Amino acid sequence: MFQVWDGDRRGRRSRFRDRLRSPVADECLALDFEPLDPPVPVPFDDVAIADGFVSDVMIRWGDNLFSGLPAFTVAGQTAQLQAQRFGFNSDWTAYFPIGQGPASGRNGMLWVNHEYTDGLMMFPGYDPANPTREQVDIELAAHGGSLVRVVQGPAGNWNYLQSSGNRRVTAVTSIEITGPAAGDPALRTTRDPSGRRVLGTLNNCGGGVTGWGTLLTAEENFDQYFANNAALPDGPQKTLNARFGVPEGESGRKWERFHPRFDLSQEPNEANRFGWVVEIDPYHPNSVPRKRTALGRLKHEAAAGTATLDGRWAVYTGDDARFEFVYKFVTRDRVRPGDARTNQNLLDHGTLYVARFNDNGTGTWLPLVHGTGPLTQANGFASQADVLIRARDAGTALGATAMDRPEDIEPNPVIGSVYIALTNSDRRGTEGNPDVDPANPRPVNVAGHVLELVEAGRDAAATAFGWRVLLLCGDPADPSTYYGGFDKSQVSEIAAPDNLAVDSRGQLWIATDGAPRVLPMNDAVVGLPVVGPERGRTRQLFGGVFGSELTGIYFNSTETTMFVSVQHPGEGGTITQPTSRWPGSGEVARSSVVAIRRG
Ligand code: FEO
Ligand code: CA
Ligand code: CA
Ligand code: CA
Repeated sequence: MFQVWDGDRRGRRSRFRDRLRSPVADECLALDFEPLDPPVPVPFDDVAIADGFVSDVMIRWGDNLFSGLPAFTVAGQTAQLQAQRFGFNSDWTAYFPIGQGPASGRNGMLWVNHEYTDGLMMFPGYDPANPTREQVDIELAAHGGSLVRVVQGPAGNWNYLQSSGNRRVTAVTSIEITGPAAGDPALRTTRDPSGRRVLGTLNNCGGGVTGWGTLLTAEENFDQYFANNAALPDGPQKTLNARFGVPEGESGRKWERFHPRFDLSQEPNEANRFGWVVEIDPYHPNSVPRKRTALGRLKHEAAAGTATLDGRWAVYTGDDARFEFVYKFVTRDRVRPGDARTNQNLLDHGTLYVARFNDNGTGTWLPLVHGTGPLTQANGFASQADVLIRARDAGTALGATAMDRPEDIEPNPVIGSVYIALTNSDRRGTEGNPDVDPANPRPVNVAGHVLELVEAGRDAAATAFGWRVLLLCGDPADPSTYYGGFDKSQVSEIAAPDNLAVDSRGQLWIATDGAPRVLPMNDAVVGLPVVGPERGRTRQLFGGVFGSELTGIYFNSTETTMFVSVQHPGEGGTITQPTSRWPGSGEVARSSVVAIRRG
């Protein structure tokens, strides 16, 4: 077994180091604050912030991205207006600076994913059994993502600007399909016989920024939009659809009633065109988004990346479902700084791997390459396109480790480690399901855990790694919990870790999704050191609204502001019987992005 933990105290060349010398370093979000204590209780219809910090609501569902539009009202919604307004259920965010130096930390473009819609929280009198066409089309327009110009004013507060440079990507935006599976017969439809053009992106959950300035937005739970898997002939496609959760009959959303492409009895291949990572150039708002099939088709939670030692790019991504896998993609070619023409094709060529976590603390990245190992014609894999479209099947054939719902995965370039949030799995170790293993060590793991991975040679291109547990979440008084070895009487409790971020000091930040199911608290953002005597000492910075999960942690370029999405405030209520009206805008709760800073 190679030794992987020798570098905890070793410095590492960091692309962030210049930030630490910047004139605004004193305003950075260091872990020197008194955590929220006690944590924000359930129910609490507001956000809470640790002393010494402020949070501003920066943009809400329904806010106009362009000038000349009527102000948002619930009754005044149309699909055309929604396509020009901030979408529903904000998730991952990414900040793209404009200009250079400290000023670039105050001027930028913010990308925000809009994961999914909830008709009960959008339309008075919404009938889930009989949505109207207009409601469905508004929901299509509220999916995807927003690219929004943002500025920080002299008083420190952040605002978005209505600007012609803003952009909406929705569930009907024309998107190119590229890479090894593009054009494959399994991606062809009546409307797109080329198999290379698809309408829209769906269920955009997490994401990542590339080394060449583009963003990757990850399609997660695409199964819920499709209907009538029973109509498909028996075979691998139907079986895999069932594994994803595609309904046998009608869908919960009923979109197929108005848009036949969501009905597999009419368009059997449309679902194959979702579950991908989508690349978007934020600096060219008219550029065509691209679904990068080389990164595989699964319920991608995220797509955060880092450079390999020889200058290529690695993207980590988890498949967020019980007993699914952790993946990594490594480009074939090197990133060439400033060479947009070369870089725009980087994600079409490379190797996708899936992780096996060995019991002894080592692990292996297993390549999803057609014709190697079990991924052969004889075993039912027709081509590389087939391997990528059926990445889950390929991972199973390779013997990948079944994980407790991999959510965000975040490289830590300061330390040379990688963090994996495993949000929970209430079926681990139960009858008919996988038993515990050292990487998923708790039965009925309702509180989730976080693993720490170090690539061999600290090279993101490595095919071997070491791993260990960083956190076993839950009530610190529960003896099954572990907070990095730190004194659990001094930690902020967390459960259901989801989105991750790493700051320039190599500190880890975690947003939770589902803590109230385990602990008497709303969801939270906590920060913790991962090295030194305070490794595992979680501190709660921020508490979310009743019914919400917290998502999308991302820093501005000077790291003086943290952007967090408050997703689905008041979930479980309806417009007419609300359990939240946050952020207090009147009629209805509105998912929003908040900017957190010292104040
Ligand atoms: Fe969309 Fe896995 O959270
Ligand atoms: Ca998530
Ligand atoms: Ca992240
Ligand atoms: Ca989640």
